Amino acid sequence: MASISIYCSIFILISLLPRSTESLCSTKPLIFSFGDSNSDTGGLVAGLGYSISPPYGRTFFRRSTGRLTDGRLLIDFLCESVKTSFLRPYMESLGSSFSNGANFAVVGSSTLPKSIPFALNVQIMQFLHFKSKSSELLASGSQKMINDDGFQRALYMIDIGQNDIADAFAKKYSYAQVVKRIPLVLAEIKNAIKSIHDNGGRKFWVHNTGPLGCLPQKLWLVKPSSKELDPHGCISSYNSAANLFNEGLRHLCAQLRSEMKDATIIYVDIYAIKYDLIANASKYGFSSPLMACCGFGGPPYNYNINVTCSHGDAQACNEGSKFISWDGIHLTEAANSILASKILSQQYSTPRVPFDFFCL
Ligand SMILES: *[C@@H]1O[C@H](CO)[C@@H](O)[C@H](O)[C@H]1NC(C)=O
Ligand SMILES: *[C@@H]1O[C@H](CO)[C@@H](O)[C@H](O)[C@H]1NC(C)=O
Repeated sequence: MASISIYCSIFILISLLPRSTESLCSTKPLIFSFGDSNSDTGGLVAGLGYSISPPYGRTFFRRSTGRLTDGRLLIDFLCESVKTSFLRPYMESLGSSFSNGANFAVVGSSTLPKSIPFALNVQIMQFLHFKSKSSELLASGSQKMINDDGFQRALYMIDIGQNDIADAFAKKYSYAQVVKRIPLVLAEIKNAIKSIHDNGGRKFWVHNTGPLGCLPQKLWLVKPSSKELDPHGCISSYNSAANLFNEGLRHLCAQLRSEMKDATIIYVDIYAIKYDLIANASKYGFSSPLMACCGFGGPPYNYNINVTCSHGDAQACNEGSKFISWDGIHLTEAANSILASKILSQQYSTPRVPFDFFCL
């Protein structure tokens, strides 16, 4: 009896869920991802042998996976929404399967300087290698490789720019100098999209960058005076630079849509979602929007550059689900989950297209 009623409730629950959480894919989802720690599912660990220790991973995987959060990343939730397995890091050679795509995103990546590991243009070169190796293996009889049709049907996700802006501020560039760099960063993103398009890619999903000035790490490092803060306690100049980058990225996407008529390019306003989470934290069940769950020093930011989250002396909060920031830079799984559901609502997308458009 009990199990029947549980099944019934689950059934009712599932039928009440909005359409966006139900995948209607008619073809096997294929996804390629490029970017930084916001999307890295283990690339830094695989590529550089770098170790990321618990409490990273404590909430969902219950072990460290190389993701810089306590559980799943946004990209993991998006993969779940189309019922495909989590994307494997391109550089993970042991036990990997790339039958649903590959993740080229690596912690710390930026667009500039280019040609150093793992700048965006390096990630694109790795993708081109992946593609030509796939054709080579297909030609020699391998069945499981992605073919040209697959590369054309695949979704290409790009989420980069946060480190470019953060690095410029960290180098003590003036605000004007930071702003001057933005067009160079956008030019790299443009090159990346054009290069994928030249190689058969047609479906692009581009994330803008979040409110950099609301990261506990930045707040701790800058120690802004009250007149440098915006109404929600974030660093105004950092957020202004992020907004200028986002305006440029939105414009770039529009320009590329008109140049590449056979491509679909979705621009997603991550900034608006993250800023809403911070501004309206309590509405979403978060208590201290500018304080890291895992770090050192306690309020207001619980961050110390010498005692970051995986340091032995760091302390992690008991309930990660009450925090937006996991380690002062990266979101908690709880925040990533809300971010994903907002993205799946299509409300933040230009044009408004369901996430699963590429596999319908
Ligand atoms: C906070 O929530 C209110 C009410 O939903 C909304 O109007 C406002 O835009 C939100 N703030 C931000 C910064 O998104
Ligand atoms: C962090 O470590 C550096 C180098 O040991 C030291 O100079 C600095 O004062 C420390 N900062 C804090 C906040 O503990």
